[in-house]
Amino acid sequence: MDKFVIEGGRHLYGSVRAASAKNAVLPIFAASVLTEEPVTIREVPAISDALCMAQILRELGADVRFHDGDVTIDSADAHSHAISCALTKELRSSVFMLGSLLTRFHRARIAYPGGCDIGLRPIDLHLNALKRLGVDIAERDGYILCSCDKLRGAEILLDFPSVGATENILLASVKAEGKTVLQGAAKEPEIVDLQNFLNAMGAKVAGAGTDAITIEGVRKLHGTVYLPQKDRIEAGTFLIAGAICGGEVEVCGVRAENISSLLHKLRENGCKIHVKNDKIKLESFGRLKCNRRIETMPFPGFPTDLQAQATALNCTCDGGALVVENLFETRFKYVPELQKMGADVEVKGRNAFVRGVPKLHGASVVAGDLRGGAALVLAALGAEGRSEVLDLSHIDRGYSDLQSKLKNLGAEIKRVRV
Ligand code: UD1
Repeated sequence: MDKFVIEGGRHLYGSVRAASAKNAVLPIFAASVLTEEPVTIREVPAISDALCMAQILRELGADVRFHDGDVTIDSADAHSHAISCALTKELRSSVFMLGSLLTRFHRARIAYPGGCDIGLRPIDLHLNALKRLGVDIAERDGYILCSCDKLRGAEILLDFPSVGATENILLASVKAEGKTVLQGAAKEPEIVDLQNFLNAMGAKVAGAGTDAITIEGVRKLHGTVYLPQKDRIEAGTFLIAGAICGGEVEVCGVRAENISSLLHKLRENGCKIHVKNDKIKLESFGRLKCNRRIETMPFPGFPTDLQAQATALNCTCDGGALVVENLFETRFKYVPELQKMGADVEVKGRNAFVRGVPKLHGASVVAGDLRGGAALVLAALGAEGRSEVLDLSHIDRGYSDLQSKLKNLGAEIKRVRV
């Protein structure tokens, strides 16, 4: 297991290009089995979630090849509609395969998340929507068994704008008989990418990015070559790194409107933000001010995937902040690790009360989840002295080559095999 060794206190200067978005790439992998023709996804980031998705597709019988950063998936020989418990455990987003397996085989079997001991991850919204499309669903021995004679377009209303449920509905309805109208859809930019990818395959999807999406079922989909959008969460992580460390950091490839809620908060902290086309430059000098309140919300609200990094920033700012986590109730698990670095944070349920301290100090901490792990790296970069961030397996799920990109900005960070 690798670790990062970080000497904190260096200012960051320079420019970094965001990789393709993890949350765009994963559902596009799932969508690749909707056609028997090869599809190529360009510039797939070297993250373990993408490798795991490739494993799932191979398990189904598809041929998946990585070449120069691109991935070509040929699922002509895919024959299985079942995903093993082991792979479901590796990658929670394997639930996104339900929709595409139903379209391809009219059957799908995945391990129930609860059955694999990976914590609470309700999928009721996914399953209820699939039922509306004509799918019969049974649960047996920890597996969800889905089947249908055919998929039929329907009117679907989501009670909550779940990203995964919205994507599953798109995947299950692109070849359904008739028209599907989805109200209450999630509006995340990555859903627009899935729509664009499906339309590049010959689908008729409109409205992604708004809360109403219509899908006209088509008979056949074909292969395509597709370049996903860049990762707004990775870009946001680098901007927050710049804010914590001080200096000037430019991120390229991400549209400012896709992270406007973060940019608003960074300005509130006292950072200067300059936007030009797809370049966002942050200037951070002197001690920043705490945000009074950060509350995570579905897009375009503040992303839960940047909550931990923003909390780490606030720990070093002047004043106090209230951070409210509305999406995932267990998303403050990184806080005890931040406390080892001297952070003053109190968690009560979905609320974290932060009192900023002038400086964090180096410590040995464990990255227990992807974004919490990123927050610990950022805290260590801004801290006084040496830190170790242990267990990089979660960080590797969503950040490709994090240490090289940070090093290029002037950080003192080494990846070390333990
Ligand atoms: C996706 C993102 C993840 C991000 C999250 C919220 C991917 C691969 N992952 O996850 O990085 O943090 O969106 O922006 O795109 N819920 C239910 N029932 C359901 C489905 C969801 O109650 O059937 C709840 C969840 O428990 C959670 C909330 O809805 O509280 C949001 O979940 P959802 O939008 O579905 O997140 P994911 O698609 O899993």
